[in-house]
Amino acid sequence: MSTLITNIGELVTNAPAGGPGGGPGEFALLTAAALVIDGGTIAWTGAAGQAPAADDIVDAAGRAVLPGFVDSHAHLVFAGERGGEFAARMAGQPYTAGGIAATVMATRAASDVTLRAGLRRLVGEMLRQGTTTYECKSGYGLTVRDEARSLMLAAEVTPEATYLGAHVVPPEFAGDTAGYLDLVCGPMLDACAPYARWIDVFCEEGAFGAGEAAAVLAAGRTRGLLPRVHAGQLGPGPGVRVAVQAGAASADHCTYLTDADVDLLASSGTVATLLPGVEFSCRQPYPDARRLLGAGVTVAIATDCNPGSCYTSSMALCVALAVREMGMTTREAVWSATAGGARALRRADVGYLGAGARADVLMLDAPSHTYLAYRPGVPLTAAVWREGRLAAARPQVLAR
Ligand code: NIG
Ligand code: FE
Repeated sequence: MSTLITNIGELVTNAPAGGPGGGPGEFALLTAAALVIDGGTIAWTGAAGQAPAADDIVDAAGRAVLPGFVDSHAHLVFAGERGGEFAARMAGQPYTAGGIAATVMATRAASDVTLRAGLRRLVGEMLRQGTTTYECKSGYGLTVRDEARSLMLAAEVTPEATYLGAHVVPPEFAGDTAGYLDLVCGPMLDACAPYARWIDVFCEEGAFGAGEAAAVLAAGRTRGLLPRVHAGQLGPGPGVRVAVQAGAASADHCTYLTDADVDLLASSGTVATLLPGVEFSCRQPYPDARRLLGAGVTVAIATDCNPGSCYTSSMALCVALAVREMGMTTREAVWSATAGGARALRRADVGYLGAGARADVLMLDAPSHTYLAYRPGVPLTAAVWREGRLAAARPQVLAR
């Protein structure tokens, strides 16, 4: 079954690097364009006038079409509710990550059925907004049983499941960080590794220090888990150095960076994943994306969707914030939310639209990608295809 989407006003392709199958390249777009989906992959992109025939035709009516968003940082398995913590923050309380403990208690008390329902609600919400690839961390269980079931649930919805046993030291190990890390790097890792692709650690004052974080990532390596790091969220610290030394795919947050951190990122294969929804929701200063881009660092944008520091699942909001608050151009922000996320997850099949790419397609009810920032807060999703299957659509889009 093939589908031709034609009459595309603007097609963001992020042209494949090194030809078909090479993964996303630089930001690129075509106007008056078309694409063909064949099964689960993109078979063809090009000028609308030269499009090959297909079994089905969708008229984009001049709308913009983009690769589906790649949200490379999210914490989606949890129970409980922290709206009061947000309200207190907006009344002047600082964000200290102390609320994680409340989510841990609620998550431990929740059944698999409850956790699965919450997770599926969020991933449905993401898909309807055009997010077709998402990472999902554990980190609100912090026991062998609760981390393992968190990851078992995450693995039901994404191949990008991340073991975050080293989120914080749970209350029953207060004063015994070493004892908790023995668990994280021992029995908990054994129970979690079968479900996860990645291992993450919150490397921050009040969470885990450089040596501890490096040990967690090294333990994960022995079980085939690839490293990524929460770095520089609440203040400057060793997180970026730890990430780069471990060969991490990504250092995330990067809100506080030294010049040395920027140099390290620029000379490494580690992506800097910026999470502007966190600064928005915690009323913190935004990271300086121009400093990173100017140094040649690869920048991704993700939501960090979680019940504490940022409870948005909207990549469109994050693009708008990146443009308005972090000095990114609309092209840079859209690239970072698609191709950049793919780089942060080391994925060569998503984040671009070219022959051989996975058919993850976002059609906007707008003529250009710029509208994601130009019309902030407005739902602009016209239709979403994931692996070639229509996953969401406004009725008027497919009417013929
Ligand atoms: O990425 N920094 C650590 N973890 C999450 C927040 C967790 C929470 O507050 O529940 C983050 O911001
Ligand atoms: Fe996070």
